[in-house]
Amino acid sequence: MLDNDIEKTIVSREEIAGITERLGEELTRDYKGEYPILVGILKGCIPFMSDLMKHLDFHLEIGYMDVSSYFGGLTGAVDVKIEMDLNIPVKNRYVLIVEDIVDSGRTLHAVIRLLEHRGAKDVKVVTLLDKPEGRKVEYVPEYIGVTIPKVFVVGYGLDYEGRYRNLPYVGLLKPEIYENA
Ligand code: IMP
Ligand code: MG
Repeated sequence: MLDNDIEKTIVSREEIAGITERLGEELTRDYKGEYPILVGILKGCIPFMSDLMKHLDFHLEIGYMDVSSYFGGLTGAVDVKIEMDLNIPVKNRYVLIVEDIVDSGRTLHAVIRLLEHRGAKDVKVVTLLDKPEGRKVEYVPEYIGVTIPKVFVVGYGLDYEGRYRNLPYVGLLKPEIYENA
């Protein structure tokens, strides 16, 4: 049923399976002997984090944060509102943030600064998708599933007005979906 609203597949189920396996192997090499906290950024991280962690062969804890970023009215600076905070202390810990997509980079930039401010020993990011053309702050994630052009995608955690997160792959919505909204 959801398939009918999709114009084109951007990252297929098979590609996603290959990506999570490859990233899992890479992270398993890099985090050998460490005991990091995986911090999933809600809500988009859910399918990706679930698949990725099955390929991580080291001890870890998981936690979640829900954040929203917006422009501060008077200053023009970017504010990040913590809708739900992480409930594990990060002081002296390795932290691996799990994101669905990096676009402007503002959200992650702010979250990384916050976790560093709280005393995390090391903060890195793994993202399924990267849209480098959308960047407003200089920022390169350490672990990237796949780089995509500056298009709006849905599925596998990514939403349009709260919907399509449960689509099992990443795709482009048909234009009429926006037009009829
Ligand atoms: P940014 O990097 O601060 O601009 O924000 C990234 C967040 O914006 C992601 O975590 C998504 O929630 C959302 N986002 C960015 N691009 C897309 C997209 O193509 N589809 C759905 N959500 C997106
Ligand atoms: Mg998000």
